[in-house]
Amino acid sequence: MSDSVIVVDGVSKRFRLYHQRNQSIKAALMRGGRAKYEEFWALKDVSFEVPEGSMFGLMGVNGSGKSTMLNCIAKILRPDKGTIATRGKFSALLELGSGFHPELSGRENIYLNGSILGLSKRELEARFDEIVDFAGVEQFIDQPVKNYSSGMYVRLGFSVAINVDPDVLLVDEVLAVGDAAFQEKCMEKFAEFRRAGKTVVVVSHAMGTMRTLCDRVAWLDAGRLVEVGRPDELIDRYIDEGHVQRGDADGGSRWGSGEGALTSVAFVDAAGAPTTKLRTGDEATIRLTYETRQRIDKPVFGLAIETLEGVYVWASNTRDADYVPDCIEGSGTVEFHIPRLMLLPGTFDISASIVDFSTVHVYDFRRHCYRFDVDHGTPRESGGLVSLGGAWRNLTSGSATADRAVQSLESGS
Ligand SMILES: Nc1ncnc2c1ncn2[C@@H]1O[C@H](COP(=O)(O)OP(=O)(O)OP(=O)(O)O)[C@@H](O)[C@H]1O
Ligand SMILES: [Mg+2]
Repeated sequence: MSDSVIVVDGVSKRFRLYHQRNQSIKAALMRGGRAKYEEFWALKDVSFEVPEGSMFGLMGVNGSGKSTMLNCIAKILRPDKGTIATRGKFSALLELGSGFHPELSGRENIYLNGSILGLSKRELEARFDEIVDFAGVEQFIDQPVKNYSSGMYVRLGFSVAINVDPDVLLVDEVLAVGDAAFQEKCMEKFAEFRRAGKTVVVVSHAMGTMRTLCDRVAWLDAGRLVEVGRPDELIDRYIDEGHVQRGDADGGSRWGSGEGALTSVAFVDAAGAPTTKLRTGDEATIRLTYETRQRIDKPVFGLAIETLEGVYVWASNTRDADYVPDCIEGSGTVEFHIPRLMLLPGTFDISASIVDFSTVHVYDFRRHCYRFDVDHGTPRESGGLVSLGGAWRNLTSGSATADRAVQSLESGS
């Protein structure tokens, strides 16, 4: 099977949706064993290959079949049509807490899980400390896992899954439950995995992570494969088709005492219309409109930008910028003008606030109130979050090609 560790060939998976709510054996017997159901195909004729040593992403909206696909690869579900050929030792972190017994302690679950995943008692003993340490659950290791928080559950599950030394690791969304520090540790583990030539198949709604992490992604929609390809291209299309919510107030949180409120927060184009699509190097303006219930002295307006994974990219407020109005009353507009947007391609969230001059009292705080995409522009740098706008220089004389390359970089083309 060439250099692929997973070959998915024409896979379809059917679920039966039963109409009767009461699915007891007795009820089924009384109906003469004929339960009424509708067939539903969660996967329809899906084919793709996962190359060995790759970081492979599965993306798609809720219900598109990602988890079903991953469960079929993990052999937890059996396809109704088609085949899945796999090579090597698999380990999976699927649904939250799957594989854990709630009444058993963390310690007992490590042994139970590890042995299911193919480690001997001796191997488990040798790795026990590392597993506990990576999960950061030392203090709770002898408590039943039913008392664990969802974050602890996931950390322990992930820690066991990676420490059984698999060739292929399957990871469903669950990692999103962990905090930023743990996610960072997971990313490092993924990188380590990849350096060791191992394969990871990951499902995520965090498009920023998928973009930076994956070599290839498969896009599922209503059980069908839309395309397999490079993450930057497919994710741009996915975002363009509006599968990632963006724009005004999409599920962000909001708090504050309310004497003054931000009535809108948006990037606006030259004509003043809100826009969620920008390019690296664009001139851009973030416009805030506000309304007050009473006069507010020395208000401080603030803005922050984060990636979808919560990486804090930038912030500014009018106090630090030495631009505080004496007072505001009624409604008005404040703008933050950016001559050149130095963010590299990705999806970002804006948070905005009005606070008092001490910055302790919050009038209105709108967290993640505006989501926008940055597409390739100028300069075109290779990766990361920000453009440094620098240029390469050649210090070796007599290299004509390199000189030309430097010139063209400096002239910004
Ligand atoms: N055991 C099941 N019985 C019946 N229907 C199911 C079952 N498991 C999944 N489905 C259905 O199959 C479809 C695909 O579900 P799946 O969980 O694979 O989606 P997903 O892409 O992982 O979604 P999400 O992003 O919400 O996790 C959904 O419509 C879901 O309701
Ligand atoms: Mg899922």
